Amino acid sequence: MFCVKGLSESGRLTSVPSKYFFEKDLNDDCINSEAETIPIIDFSMLTSGSPEQRYKTIQAIGNACLKWGFFEVINHGVPNTLRDEMIRASESFFDLSDEQKREYAGKKLFDPIRWGTSFNVNVDKTLFWRDYLKIHVHPQFNAPQNPLGFSKTIQEYCKRVRELANELLKGIMESLGLEESYIQKAMDLETDSHQLLVVNLYPPCPQPEVVMGLPPHSDHGLLTILMQNDHVGLHVRHDGKWIPVNPPPGSFVVNIGDHMEILSNGKYKSVLHRAVVNGKATRISVATAHGPPLDTVVGPAQDLLDNENRPPLYRGIKYREYLQLQQSNQLKGKSCLDHVK
Ligand code: SIN
Ligand code: FE2
Repeated sequence: MFCVKGLSESGRLTSVPSKYFFEKDLNDDCINSEAETIPIIDFSMLTSGSPEQRYKTIQAIGNACLKWGFFEVINHGVPNTLRDEMIRASESFFDLSDEQKREYAGKKLFDPIRWGTSFNVNVDKTLFWRDYLKIHVHPQFNAPQNPLGFSKTIQEYCKRVRELANELLKGIMESLGLEESYIQKAMDLETDSHQLLVVNLYPPCPQPEVVMGLPPHSDHGLLTILMQNDHVGLHVRHDGKWIPVNPPPGSFVVNIGDHMEILSNGKYKSVLHRAVVNGKATRISVATAHGPPLDTVVGPAQDLLDNENRPPLYRGIKYREYLQLQQSNQLKGKSCLDHVK
């Protein structure tokens, strides 16, 4: 497989091959360098604060979901040592020889472990400056055997982040006016939720301004929880502009996925985001996508609908089918969400 890491390290690369040239959209000048940032949520106020503090935090989460589709979480209880170890071990995975990684190359969507490059090589017209490792980690746990100890780190990290996601989902349900356990009951989330780990590697690029790490996209699941090494690169679409995200050290970036947009009947939008790269350093980001069980049909929550004023805006679809749809070239550039409207 021709990965970006190999390309970036192959001798003195001074320009990038033209197949990586990304056609920027017309709104690309709109990056706002002013102090507009995504909201910060103090997780400890959700779980160990007073009822008033929990109430206020749920309001803040609701506002963040409504206005941004994104928020940053501090005081989340996931140890920094575990986060650092997850980044370090991910780096070691990409440092393995191509021989060792090849075992995971050329895999399909539901294969347990996939090592690849770009966004979706089957449909990408231009290539993206990113290599990835994708692992289905829940309900069935999988992990590569190398590097040594990676599996244990992944297991521990993903478990802690899944617990965080489940608590946040309860808060989000409440912010929608639903029972906090609505999603757990509707989907057996505790035992069967689907969790996909995506480790992104963005090597330094000699012409960072002409390429894109990840093109504008929305995430497929209910919620995505993201952390990164010391380098920024994530941009979030907000009020017609791209806003660079510079999260406080030790925090997680959380965003609403397509399935939350469906479940909330469009109240909380799954917001476009992209990743740019830089000329100096390798950026690593670790995302976990938290979705419903693969064979559960998710549609708008019944309690949010009424026939006259709030009809369902989306049809129900199995998460498995949605993922297949997103990977297929049937979409021809159209957003996947448009197919369930
Ligand atoms: C993603 O959108 O999945 C990752 C974005 C990032 O690397 O910051
Ligand atoms: Fe994403």
